[in-house]
Amino acid sequence: MRTIKVGIVGLGRLGKIHAQNLAQNVPNCQLYAACSLNEEELIYAKTELGVEKGYANYAEMIADSELDAVAIASPSGYHCQQINAALEKGLHVYSEKPIGLDLEEIQATMDVINRHSKQIFMLGFMRRYDDSYRYAKELVEAGELGELTVVRCYGIDPSSGMESFVKFAGASNSGGLFADMSIHDIDLVRWFTKAEVAKVWAIGKNAAYPELDQVNELETGAAMLQLTDKTMGLLVAGRNCAHGYHVETELIGTKGMLRIANFPEKNLVTVLNSNGVVRPCSQDFPERFAGAFITEMKEFIECILTEKQPEVTSYDGLQATKVALACKESFEKNQLIELK
Ligand code: NAI
Repeated sequence: MRTIKVGIVGLGRLGKIHAQNLAQNVPNCQLYAACSLNEEELIYAKTELGVEKGYANYAEMIADSELDAVAIASPSGYHCQQINAALEKGLHVYSEKPIGLDLEEIQATMDVINRHSKQIFMLGFMRRYDDSYRYAKELVEAGELGELTVVRCYGIDPSSGMESFVKFAGASNSGGLFADMSIHDIDLVRWFTKAEVAKVWAIGKNAAYPELDQVNELETGAAMLQLTDKTMGLLVAGRNCAHGYHVETELIGTKGMLRIANFPEKNLVTVLNSNGVVRPCSQDFPERFAGAFITEMKEFIECILTEKQPEVTSYDGLQATKVALACKESFEKNQLIELK
């Protein structure tokens, strides 16, 4: 088997995890290059991960003729332009979610992806690669729940990240709570139901950090979705979870229900002490989805080697972003939005 040489752009909160996995946990892959605006991160990549080439400029990195593929983990507003540029250079592309923040820009990127259909394009909806979600999907496909009627999803980031979020919220363009956080849940709703979202109504509240009002960001939001087949989606998204990182999904069907992580347990340990019966919780996304991040990167490299496109497509990215932006619009206008 040949070795795929990958260049990563972005070595921040998530980029570092992908970089470590590409360098150490994915067979037939070499993390050959890295690009970041932060020099310390490039030094880290060279010294800790054995990366050969460090770049402060993305265009220079993708011009490196040694590269086979790029992994994009830069801020969301750069994804479309970086996907386009890499594909035009003949490279395979993995991009973090969301695929983009602007629907027209995403459509244009989909045209570029479709024009380069022999190159692999994969989008980072990594929950589809988590063991529990995969198991749940198998049960749904086998008809264990009958016909789905409701999908309920919670996605709440730990309050430990709030201080830094509040500090940088004005400067960074996250795309808003629904595009930043609920996008994974929206993808899960579409994945499990195989239906599209027809209508959304979203609401929200800033309670612990009212200053988020000034930068047009939300601390906690909720959305109600109606799908084309009348299945219901209920989303709660937040950035202020006191007990850790809370990602929970419930599927209700005509023959039964299932829940994935209804308590975000860290592992199988239960502590009995003066606080009572304590089940420690997972504290952040790197901990909860450690396995999924490795599995998705293995899939990306495997797809390149076997010349097959991954299950998650740019269309999934477009549809999920459409719904997330509709939720944002619904919250801002305080009205129900119908998707076209
Ligand atoms: P971050 O702010 O921690 O890191 C951003 C990185 O991009 C830094 O290394 C910075 O130097 C680099 N960068 C910024 N502008 C650049 C440019 N023009 N050229 C080259 N490098 C540039 O961001 P974070 O939190 O790691 O998020 C990155 C992406 O990953 C976002 O799109 C986010 O939505 C996504 N994400 C996905 C998660 C998941 O669960 N799948 C979890 C967290 C983030």
